[in-house]
Amino acid sequence: MSIYTKVSLFASLKMVLCMLPKVSLTPLTTSSTIQVASLMKSTQLRAFIRPSSFLRLASAVPRSPPAITPPRASIPTPTPKRNHFQSRFFASTAIMASSTPQLKLNSGYDMPQVGFGLWKVDNATCADTVYNAIKVGYRLFDGACDYGNEKEVGEGIARAIKDGLVKREDLFLVSKLWNSFHDADQVEKIARKQLADLGIDYFDLYLIHFPVALKYVAPEVRYPPGWNYEGDKVVLSNATIQETWQAMESLVEKKLARSIGISNFQGALILDLLRYAKIRPATLQIEHHPYLVQPTLLKLAEAEGIKVTAYSSFGPQSFIELGWDKAKDTPVLFEHSVITSLAEKYKKTPAQILLRWATQRGLAVIPKSNNEKRLQQNLEVTEFDMEKSELESISALDRHLRFNNPTDYLGTLHIFA
Ligand SMILES: NC(=O)c1ccc[n+]([C@@H]2O[C@H](COP(=O)([O-])OP(=O)(O)OC[C@H]3O[C@@H](n4cnc5c(N)ncnc54)[C@H](OP(=O)(O)O)[C@@H]3O)[C@@H](O)[C@H]2O)c1
Repeated sequence: MSIYTKVSLFASLKMVLCMLPKVSLTPLTTSSTIQVASLMKSTQLRAFIRPSSFLRLASAVPRSPPAITPPRASIPTPTPKRNHFQSRFFASTAIMASSTPQLKLNSGYDMPQVGFGLWKVDNATCADTVYNAIKVGYRLFDGACDYGNEKEVGEGIARAIKDGLVKREDLFLVSKLWNSFHDADQVEKIARKQLADLGIDYFDLYLIHFPVALKYVAPEVRYPPGWNYEGDKVVLSNATIQETWQAMESLVEKKLARSIGISNFQGALILDLLRYAKIRPATLQIEHHPYLVQPTLLKLAEAEGIKVTAYSSFGPQSFIELGWDKAKDTPVLFEHSVITSLAEKYKKTPAQILLRWATQRGLAVIPKSNNEKRLQQNLEVTEFDMEKSELESISALDRHLRFNNPTDYLGTLHIFA
């Protein structure tokens, strides 16, 4: 039986089960460790050699008008609008359409609260993984130039649209501006290249990946360019965040992006950006897990009407995959007694407890999995509630421990100093 047949059967079964009061899943705990050196190599190489054989997707008229100058947002409630059990049938295949809650962005658009992260999704399997993820109900995909797999992501999306699983406007596609394209005259050019690679006409959300501008590397020279200008040399550009943000705003004006946002920014820089922004950032994407909670940054974002997306929700797990010592030396969150006891109580997996801790507090999550079962379970993280004291007991695990820090892996660019 093919993977897709299995997924379809699972989706049909799930649809029936949804009509019953509550369903518990058998816990799945472990994840396989990937040989990341070879994975990264193949990711980089395939970004060069893959032919552009994907389909160009239809453009769509915005469903709600983009607010060019949105009013200063009031403090949002963390209770997202639910969109339960909208089941559809496509070409004789029963699909459980996404029951994921939506977060209302300050741009006027809705963003699914649970999405799929595309970092370290291998080029060889990426198109199938994306197609499969759409089939099980994912609608948001979080990508980036730097992940080196946008053509394959586009292939998976094009196939899903061609097969009638979704329309372009059902999806929420996120990508990011890499650091070496911050110069104002490079932003639109690279955004258009990324759109072409994905085979789409607009991003639902386009983020500044890191608040640091690196010297421009032409795509013909190296793509994705990575952190180094040449050899192991990291070279800064003189572009300011202000000029980069203004170029991002022009993407909205040209309808190349519906919403724009920021990633890996901290308080002072956000406050500064808000002084000159004509379009406020719709989202802030940050590393967020029980070992790195950043409560005051969350408070600032909430007060400014900026939705927060948590990345690396499983803490060290993503970086163990990369073989990093800091991650290997940190107790695995999946085995922490606070997490495992809650998993037992709610009959969920530790991964689902970690994701629910974020979603119940109003954050969006974008877990990545190369595994079909884990991919499915990571989507089912909005339909049970823990007690307030239990959420607090998870937050109390905070160690201010950041894994994705250029200081650690480059020895320079101390952006979190
Ligand atoms: N803005 C930024 O700078 C930035 C930085 C990092 C990440 N991100 C985004 O955030 C996304 C998620 O973060 P991430 O990729 O760092 O890590 P993550 O989603 O927190 O963790 C991925 C790791 O957890 C494993 N895993 C996934 N689901 C599991 C489950 N249910 N049970 C057990 N293990 C599970 C995966 O292995 P398997 O694949 O084998 O399941 C992988 O080893 C990225 O893909 C990317 O889109 C953004």
